[in-house]
Amino acid sequence: MTGVHYEVLNPVSSPAHSGLREATPIAVIGTGNVGGALLDLLAERDHPGLELVALANSRRMLFCEEGITAAGVVSRLDGEGEVTDIAALETRLHGLAGQAIIVDLTASAAVAATHSHWLKAGFSVVTANKWAASGDGSDNQALLATLGQARTGYRYSTTVGAGLPLLETIRRLHQSGDRIHSVAGLFSGTLSFLMKGLGDGRAFSECVHQAQQQGLTEPDPRLDLSGVDVARKLVITARAAGIKLDLADVDIESLVPEALATWPLDCFLQDGEPYLDAAWQDTLAQRSANGVPRYVGSVDHSGTARVGIQWLEVDHPFATVGPTDNIFEIRSDSYQDTPILIRGPGAGARVTAVQVLADVLGARASFTISY
Ligand SMILES: NC(=O)c1ccc[n+]([C@@H]2O[C@H](COP(=O)([O-])OP(=O)(O)OC[C@H]3O[C@@H](n4cnc5c(N)ncnc54)[C@H](OP(=O)(O)O)[C@@H]3O)[C@@H](O)[C@H]2O)c1
Repeated sequence: MTGVHYEVLNPVSSPAHSGLREATPIAVIGTGNVGGALLDLLAERDHPGLELVALANSRRMLFCEEGITAAGVVSRLDGEGEVTDIAALETRLHGLAGQAIIVDLTASAAVAATHSHWLKAGFSVVTANKWAASGDGSDNQALLATLGQARTGYRYSTTVGAGLPLLETIRRLHQSGDRIHSVAGLFSGTLSFLMKGLGDGRAFSECVHQAQQQGLTEPDPRLDLSGVDVARKLVITARAAGIKLDLADVDIESLVPEALATWPLDCFLQDGEPYLDAAWQDTLAQRSANGVPRYVGSVDHSGTARVGIQWLEVDHPFATVGPTDNIFEIRSDSYQDTPILIRGPGAGARVTAVQVLADVLGARASFTISY
């Protein structure tokens, strides 16, 4: 998305906005780490303005017009749910009074591909799923146009930095006419953890292994090591700053040796270690600077974008953050000599769910404003 405007206030084209329902119906798709944590939050904290009416994962879904009790619902899905059919779920949401908010907490490209359709249909969408916001630039323009026509809201603050106030800060600067000169940072807690271990002199395979043990990697660690996830976050960040950027424009330094990229997962996990260690030794031999390694994403106003290893002084702000934290540096017309720094946990189910919930409440507030 660009930083122009990501939300339009007004429920006029909502599916059944004229009903008397007071609470906003919400449908949560994805019951994994983040989805589960969001349901825990809904169970723990009283949010009378929200009513969970639908829940789905890749296998089963539940729908109840009168509302679903969030506590323990994931364990009830298998027994009480029916086979997931997202289109059928949408049809039922259309029958509700009140403008529903659909919350996509999957990492599914297929689910993300329906975001613009949902917006056109009058739903608001909140998501932690990066696929739509980092997708092809023309699709993105179409999604933005949808927002204008359908008069609904799209919130995706948790797609970068797990909801640390990065996108919002960039968007505010851009909207006020303060040109963003550059954004750089550590966009991946997993790769920060890995780089910290490498900087301490540990073997590459050992660091990957530790990250896996701590649940920091995807089941296939190559998804983290390839740098593509960081590149997607960089694309979303650039667009918030009004910089045109597609994934294909990003210079990506993959940490996966080319030969290993296509191995079946079990082979990679079983036999890949010596290759990873050898590739890291090559990187060490070729490095042109001293310092500690960090996996940095950076983009400037001209659209030059790179994700890869940088060797930094030990007292550089990027070198001093916690092992799984994110940090971002924003330079703009007004923040050139002293850039804005934002740092904090850039992953974690609970912190992400808190920010997803804030996005849901923000979306609700925007269309309950009377005018
Ligand atoms: N984890 C974090 O700290 C974090 C932080 C920021 C952003 N995010 C983003 O948040 C999203 C969720 O992350 P996660 O860690 O919660 O992932 P996860 O634990 O793998 O959960 C993903 C959920 O999506 C469901 N799903 C997948 N494909 C689906 C489909 N086609 N239809 C319906 N449901 C589908 C899965 O169903 P099953 O249960 O049936 O497999 C699962 O419940 C991802 O996009 C991720 O990048 C995560």
